[in-house]
Amino acid sequence: MKKLFIFSLASATIVLASCGTGSQPPATGADTATTNTVPVTLPDPAAFHDSVDGQPTALYILKNKQISAAITNYGARVVSLLVPDQKGTPTDVVLGYDSIGKYIHQPDTYFGAVVGRYGNRIAKGRFKLDGKQYTLATNNAPNHLHGGNKGFDAVVWTGKQLSDTSLELTYLSKDGEEGYPGNLRVTVIYTLDSDALHVGYAATTDKPTVLNLTNHSYFNLNGQGSGTINNHVLQIFADRYTPVDSTLIPTGKIDSVGGTPFDFRQATAIGARVGDTGNIQIKYGKGYDHNFVLDPAPPVAGALSPRPAAIVRGDLSGIVLSITTDQPGIQFYGGNFLNGTNPLKAGKKDDYRSAFCLETQHYPDSPNEPSFPSTVLKPGEKYATWTYFRLSTK
Ligand code: BGC
Repeated sequence: MKKLFIFSLASATIVLASCGTGSQPPATGADTATTNTVPVTLPDPAAFHDSVDGQPTALYILKNKQISAAITNYGARVVSLLVPDQKGTPTDVVLGYDSIGKYIHQPDTYFGAVVGRYGNRIAKGRFKLDGKQYTLATNNAPNHLHGGNKGFDAVVWTGKQLSDTSLELTYLSKDGEEGYPGNLRVTVIYTLDSDALHVGYAATTDKPTVLNLTNHSYFNLNGQGSGTINNHVLQIFADRYTPVDSTLIPTGKIDSVGGTPFDFRQATAIGARVGDTGNIQIKYGKGYDHNFVLDPAPPVAGALSPRPAAIVRGDLSGIVLSITTDQPGIQFYGGNFLNGTNPLKAGKKDDYRSAFCLETQHYPDSPNEPSFPSTVLKPGEKYATWTYFRLSTK
């Protein structure tokens, strides 16, 4: 698990963002980026003591020399991730709220959450498994999104702090919950490892089911609430992506990114081509909201096959996020539905395109697309996947 791929942006061609924020009018203040002027701290754990569905909620703090993280057992959410910028100033690089009440009452963004059972969309809320039809909530009409009306982001997990740098969260999703078959026992372990946050996922089931877990952190590497991410520079290690229909369901085709705004093989500013509404995929996504097919993993003897997935650099902070995973895909979502209405930590706002998500996962709608890698989990099998989020200024 400690094998890391380190990539440098130095040699890559950088295409700078020349156009503003693309197809939609930005919310006020969204098209500029600013640096933080007030000292950044972790939220107060006392503001997370509550109970949801009779289960106690809490905030857990993980710390090492380089990183501090605050994680709540409500939705297994990363609330804060503090890392030094290029001047050594602590910077909170994920969007979140400063109290449990705000998470409960502003549910639709999935800030920092583990999403499940199925990350991203299942067409029309239907899939067949072993000849039986299952019906799910169409909470993102006409489709099912991120596990339904009450997915894993909105339930209380059992938290157990394993050490100063590690937290275990477990959840039993009962047979039939949100329409999915099988009692599913899920464990997520967050661990700080030097300059990285490692997320490990494990699960077992007592009936065949489908499963696609991911972490839905919204990043702004200049600091949460500090304006546009369009000048962040992004590289995605994918030659191909899965184009979608107008409801964001993959068509089943796997297309080359070559010659399209989806070509991030060379480091490119996120906003450089997001305004290309002549591209039907950008139009359907209202910007970037697409799954990239990660390049095949290089073989690593005796280990899970790690894939370099993406590298992003904050233009003002110099903070670099590099993501490695064993998952076959990554959903790049550019914050197209953020509109400044959610009150972030430290009085900041979640303006239009002021954060991005890079969700390592299987492809959306895989249960209905036999040509995609399978997301079926059977009794006796062990689901085990992981993602590394490395944060540095190199
Ligand atoms: C989806 C977006 C959605 C966002 C928040 C992303 O994973 O792809 O379409 O708006 O999550 O729910």
